[in-house]
Amino acid sequence: MAKILVTGGLGFIGSHTVVELINAGYEPVIVDDLSNSNVKILDQLTKILGRKPIFHQLDLCDEAGVKQLLSAEPDIDGIIHFAAFKAVGESVEFPLKYYRNNFYSLINLLNTYYSKPVNFVFSSSCTVYGQPDQLPVTENASVKPAESPYGNTKQIAEEILKDMIASGGSRYKVIALRYFNPVGAHESALIGELPVGVPQNLVPFVTQTAIGKREKITVFGNDYHTPDGSCIRDYIHVVDLAKAHVAALKLMEQESFTGYDVFNIGTGKGTSVLEIIDAFERSTGEKLNFVIGPRRPGDVEQVWGDVTKSTNVLGWKTELDIDTMMASAWAWEKYIANNPL
Ligand code: UD1
Repeated sequence: MAKILVTGGLGFIGSHTVVELINAGYEPVIVDDLSNSNVKILDQLTKILGRKPIFHQLDLCDEAGVKQLLSAEPDIDGIIHFAAFKAVGESVEFPLKYYRNNFYSLINLLNTYYSKPVNFVFSSSCTVYGQPDQLPVTENASVKPAESPYGNTKQIAEEILKDMIASGGSRYKVIALRYFNPVGAHESALIGELPVGVPQNLVPFVTQTAIGKREKITVFGNDYHTPDGSCIRDYIHVVDLAKAHVAALKLMEQESFTGYDVFNIGTGKGTSVLEIIDAFERSTGEKLNFVIGPRRPGDVEQVWGDVTKSTNVLGWKTELDIDTMMASAWAWEKYIANNPL
C-alpha cells in the first residue's frame, strides 16, 4: 500500500482527502500541528473509516522535527501538502507570519531525504488568476500580481516547485492543483469545515446564520457586472475536490508523466452569491436572513474555471451539484451544533 504523507490532514480539505485516499487503497500518514484544526477530527475519521489513521502532531516549520518524522516514516511514496495559513485578511495584517509558515514548511518538506522518488501534490488556488481577462479561466492564463501575501505564497510556491523540477536533479514529480471554492461536507456529516471565530467564507457564514449563531448574512455587493449583480465563483464539493488528489497521484504514478503540471480543480460553472442563498433555501427548506451590503474590498467580481485539461489529462471531473453541496454543509452544521467537538 503506497504511503502518502498528508500535511494538514485534519483540516477541511485534508480530512476529506484522507477518506478518499483510504477508499482508493492508499495509506495516509497525517501530519498536522493543530493550529487551525481539531484533534477530535481524528476520532471522526475513525468513525467513518472503521480504523484510526496514522497521525503525527508536528509543525512543519520545525526542520529537525521534519527530519525526525521522515526517519519514523521512511518509506513515503507521496506527499499531499495542504498545511498552510489561508486567511486573506490576516495575511495582509501579518505578512511575515504567512511567508514564514507557508514557505518554511514547503522548503523543509522538499529539503529532506526520501528513500524513494516522491509524487508531490501541492494545494494551490484560483487566487493566482486574480480577475481573469477571459472566462472560464484556463491554466495558461497569465498569473496576475497577487492581491494579498496569502495569494503571493501560492504563486511563489508554484514557482519554487517548478524551479526545483527544472533543476533536473529532482527525484520528485509535482502536480499543483488550483482549487476554486471548496464547500460542503462528507455525506456522513461526521467531518466538515470548522472555521475558527467568525467565518470569512460564504458557505460557513450561511450555515451559521441559518442555525442561529449569526443574526444575518450580508451579501457583499449587488452592483457588479453580473446577471444578478452579486459576485460569481466556481463552488466545488469538497469530496469531489478530495478525489482530485487521488487522480493526481494516479497520474504521477504513470511513467509517462514527468516533471511538473498544474490543473484547475472546479466544476467549470459559475454561481452567484444570490444563487447560493437560493440553492441553500431550496435544498434545506430553511429561510435565510440576508441583507445586501457594500462590496468587500479586494473581492474579484467573477471567476470560474475551464476544466477541459483536468477532465482530459487528469481524468477527473466533479459529480456533486450545488444542492448537494448546500444540503451536506447544512447536515454538518446541524451535527456540530448537537455534537460540539
Ligand atoms: C477567498 C479568497 C481566496 C481564497 C479563499 C480561501 C478573497 C478575496 N479571496 O475566496 O483567495 O483562496 O477565500 O478560502 O478573500 N460573500 C458574501 N458574504 C459573506 C462572505 C462572502 O457575500 O459573508 C461573498 C464574497 O464577496 C464572494 C463569495 O461570497 O463573492 C465567496 O467568498 P469567499 O467564500 O470568502 O471566497 P472567495 O472570496 O472566493
